[in-house]
Amino acid sequence: MDYKKYIAERINVDGLSCEEIYGLIVTPPNSEMGDFALPCFKLSKVLRKSPAIIAEELKDAYKTDGVISGVSAINGYLNFSVNKAGLASSVLSEILTSGENYGKSQEGKDKTVCIDYSSVNIAKPFHIGHLSTTVIGGALYKLYQYLGYNVVGINHLGDYGTQFGKLICAYKRWGNKEEVEKGGIHAINDLYVRFNNEADEQMESEAREYFRLIESGDKEANEIFEWFKSLTLKYVQKIYDKLGVNFDSYAGERFYTDKMQPVIDELREKRLLKESEGAQIVDLEEYGMPPCLILRSDGASLYATRDLAAAIYRKNTYDFYKCLYVVAYQQNLHFKQFFKVLELMGKPWAKDMVHVAYGMVSLEDGAMSTRKGKVVWLEDVINKCIEKAYTVVSEKNPDLENKNEIAEKVGIGAVIFGALYNNKIKDIVFSYDRVLSFEGETSVYVQYTCARANSVLSKSGNKEALPENYQPNAQEFEVVKELASFPEVLKEAAEKYEPCYIARFAVDLAQKFNKFYIDCKILTAEGDAKDFRLALTRATLSTLKSALAILGIGVPDKM
Ligand code: ARG
Repeated sequence: MDYKKYIAERINVDGLSCEEIYGLIVTPPNSEMGDFALPCFKLSKVLRKSPAIIAEELKDAYKTDGVISGVSAINGYLNFSVNKAGLASSVLSEILTSGENYGKSQEGKDKTVCIDYSSVNIAKPFHIGHLSTTVIGGALYKLYQYLGYNVVGINHLGDYGTQFGKLICAYKRWGNKEEVEKGGIHAINDLYVRFNNEADEQMESEAREYFRLIESGDKEANEIFEWFKSLTLKYVQKIYDKLGVNFDSYAGERFYTDKMQPVIDELREKRLLKESEGAQIVDLEEYGMPPCLILRSDGASLYATRDLAAAIYRKNTYDFYKCLYVVAYQQNLHFKQFFKVLELMGKPWAKDMVHVAYGMVSLEDGAMSTRKGKVVWLEDVINKCIEKAYTVVSEKNPDLENKNEIAEKVGIGAVIFGALYNNKIKDIVFSYDRVLSFEGETSVYVQYTCARANSVLSKSGNKEALPENYQPNAQEFEVVKELASFPEVLKEAAEKYEPCYIARFAVDLAQKFNKFYIDCKILTAEGDAKDFRLALTRATLSTLKSALAILGIGVPDKM
């Protein structure tokens, strides 16, 4: 239940709405002060009285009940204590009955969210720069599903452009079928790099011709292109499987080849197209932006043209409630421009387009995503993390069985969590040692906490029964309160497109559980205390699993 709402509905202040009061209520860091508090400083302006007097008056007017059992006024704060036994039993029984579905809701019923993420470039390296879009998009996908939305995951393939002419040219000159078949994306990428280093005028002009051939539907050119595409997709699929991400559509830029003309016609009809140095543009000067390029002077379409066609296609096909683009902040301007063009075209749904921007990921040793053609492939980062996880896990517990399987979950979890733990807009420096530490704000720490909870539960025989009317102690209650906040955390993460809220929740809950675990005995406790603690342990385990599952992270039974 939403305690803040419950409280806000029972406070009357002239001139303030229930929502405004709701917005003011905080959760004090130290629950000795109360479980919730209303600071009265802001009210003081409206009511023209001192905060202390307001708090005092509100306290006298507030009627306690079975939910809120105490109210006090201290230093301009109105503090509320909840009925701890009541809260504990309602939260735990809800979690024990819903299991790993706790927090699921139907708020998204009949609404569709499109998520454009990962969006790989055909025949180009899938590198560490693609990590964030893939795992943030993947987490949002599962989060929206959890909240009852229809979700359409779209991999807007980068499969359009003159580079494919170059690739075919390089392949014809230097490549051979067996080598490319065997070397896959790496072999293709080598050809591309070689072209860029060695091509002369003659080859450049051949490359343009091959591009034209692809465009005009030439059979051979298209077969080679499709082959490169299938090798790329086969390669990335292995990574998607590891990261647990999923797509419903691979309609990439090429898919919109025949869908751009109607958009161009519509722009022209609505008098939005302007000629500038031979090119066709939409002027955005009035909005403080450079023009949005629609057609180059040679008549070629651009990235934005295809995105406009794609947005209109998605609206017509999926009738989305929101359309998200999980793309690095380097493309901020592109999205601002193309969303603006949709608005100028009079699309009322332009307001439902969201650029979910995120920061850069670099490695600790200073290696960036691309450096002199040297690329950090995401696959290598994942494999290295799994390898290191094997060492870390074996050191901690040498007798562990299934070490490989566990290292895989721990290593992959660390890669995902490493990219998700911070607010998405921050640049991140990825450190293997940090993401694989047992102490600290890591997935390993959370997974280890799960293993600990699992071990307690199996020692007790995996039978939990919640006692009635149990009065929780301070450590127990901290865990209960954290558990109670999960549905709210999910909602907020979805509203702000921030999977990191879920990652932080998991760490906070694990920390509170561990404090409880260290301070309170579980298996050697007696009577109601033992029953309650086992139920609390079960509820923590299943909630941690749900949280990690939304992020795409699995939990080993033992560690
Ligand atoms: N493939 C693009 C890139 O690597 C990202 C595409 C993002 N999606 C979009 N609809 N523009 O930069």
